Amino acid sequence: MIKNLFNTVHITAWLLLSCSALASEKAILDPNARFHPVVSDRGMVVSQEMLASQVGAAILARGGNAVDAAVATGFALAVTLPRAGNLGGGGFMLVHLAEEDKTVAIDFREMAPAAASKDMFLDAEGDVDNSKARFSIHSSGVPGTVAGLLHALDKHGKLSVKEVLQPAIELARTGFPVSVDLSSSLQSRQPRLHQNAASKAYFYKPDGSGYEYGETLIQADLAATLDRIAKRGRSGFYQGKTAQLIVAEMRSSGGLINRKDLTNYEVVERAPVCGDYRGNNVCAMPPPSSGGVHLLQMLNILEGWELESLGHNSAAYLHRLVEVMRRAYADRSSYLGDPDFFPVPVAELTDKRYATILREQIDLEKSSRSVDVRPGLEGSIAGDGSAAGKESTETTHFSTWDKWGNVVSATYTLNFSYGSGISVAGAGFLLNNEMDDFSAKPGTPNGFGLIGGVANAIQPGKRPLSSMTPTIVFGSTGEPILATGSPGGSTIITIVLQMVLNVVDFDMGVAEATAASRIHHQWLPDTVFYESGISVDSLQLLRGMGHQLSDKARVLGASQTIQRADDSGNVDKITDEKATQIQVTAPLLYGTSDYRRDGAGVAVPTVAD
Ligand code: DON
Repeated sequence: MIKNLFNTVHITAWLLLSCSALASEKAILDPNARFHPVVSDRGMVVSQEMLASQVGAAILARGGNAVDAAVATGFALAVTLPRAGNLGGGGFMLVHLAEEDKTVAIDFREMAPAAASKDMFLDAEGDVDNSKARFSIHSSGVPGTVAGLLHALDKHGKLSVKEVLQPAIELARTGFPVSVDLSSSLQSRQPRLHQNAASKAYFYKPDGSGYEYGETLIQADLAATLDRIAKRGRSGFYQGKTAQLIVAEMRSSGGLINRKDLTNYEVVERAPVCGDYRGNNVCAMPPPSSGGVHLLQMLNILEGWELESLGHNSAAYLHRLVEVMRRAYADRSSYLGDPDFFPVPVAELTDKRYATILREQIDLEKSSRSVDVRPGLEGSIAGDGSAAGKESTETTHFSTWDKWGNVVSATYTLNFSYGSGISVAGAGFLLNNEMDDFSAKPGTPNGFGLIGGVANAIQPGKRPLSSMTPTIVFGSTGEPILATGSPGGSTIITIVLQMVLNVVDFDMGVAEATAASRIHHQWLPDTVFYESGISVDSLQLLRGMGHQLSDKARVLGASQTIQRADDSGNVDKITDEKATQIQVTAPLLYGTSDYRRDGAGVAVPTVAD
């Protein structure tokens, strides 16, 4: 197993070899590639916001491990990326511990408060009140982020709470320059955020106008909350002044979360779901995320076909993807929910024999129709999924990797951009609207067009079903070769799927894999969503096979990925065709922040120790 990865002799040799000898070998840094990753030999942090990545890299530079870096990055994102980085939300973190050769899945998903009930979002007519589910004080589950990050640090980190929180406190207290991305995002959400006095005060100037590029955003109340967490750990948030402020916010508008809900919040360390895919071991988040189960289910079906020879993003390839996605999301609607409340059939859904049955139902020439595809294990459920893709994709993923070979893949969220839009007055942070990820009424779509039933019905203390899919892939030698994840609501699982396929089946380096155009299908609506860059010929052929395509291209996700060469050695060679030389280097890390969003960044420690 990977031990002291970077203590191995650092071989840097220039070998004179002919180009022809390289022809069959793949290289992460390929001179023929159009996109190239950031390279590091001493650890890496990749996140949606460059200042936060730099915070994580600085933690690595001072001797912190991947968990310390991830926790510091997570808290920094709560300051610099307020639309998704958070204290008032929840998420998941996969941690690979090199020394123990063990991977754990930390579940810090929000929990429904004790006073929550199955029909709490239904109006007098029995219809779902979307505004109540998404933009009210009732939209929030009990936040899990602070407990989750502190749990990770306590169990698997090396540094103190103070050390990892200090950079975030500084960023909040003294402020940071507003990026174009933040300025425009706050501008676009102004109507909603202005409806809440605290959010208006926290994210806009005193006259209500937005911050321009380069102006400084100071968040004094948030700094004070972070400071309480730094001093008192978990009780700096779930008890004492922060808890008082949360409860006061709830009381002021009839919200359900009380002191007991806060003190009772529990982080759960779970076993990741792992499965073999073409000799690699793919590990991802188990329920209450649907991500890992359906990622493996889709890979299992696809494994029965040779994909590379079909050609990347050819119609034949995309047809297979769509049919596989359709079936996975049909199953999602019936069988997935919080495993502490509902017996999720993880083993059955990820069984290769079940994949074979589903594969055999797929006509390779013709599209099936979603109305004819039912959850495959048993039963059925209806719904039109008409809301699919309406909300913006504002969750956020970050990946960290240290010089010892520890790896973190974490995704956390407020759900929609800026969550419910309601900030806790005096505490400086936004509350999530994760309660909308429950199925408020069987067959009625949520904000991502996803439907569900009893498995994901609201119950006190239950965690809403998620699509967040932090993933770590282990290569042929058992060592980690990829840490990836993305925002994107319902599209997250299919985005991660395509990242894995691009790397494993199509031998792409991480930058090429990230840049490649993506598609998405989620059973309902029966629509293929696609990005620009998928050839019009492929789209036309898909239409000819009977697929219904969305009217126009859209953007799918924003992955944050680190890749490491498989120890088979081939991929670690940096080829230079012209000079006919190869630089052979001991295992390096290759990182790419998705090009789809502005402001993201890969950071590497500047000092090697
Ligand atoms: O957990 C989930 O699946 C969603 N709450 C994630 C939301 C997301 O990715 C951001 N999109 N708006």
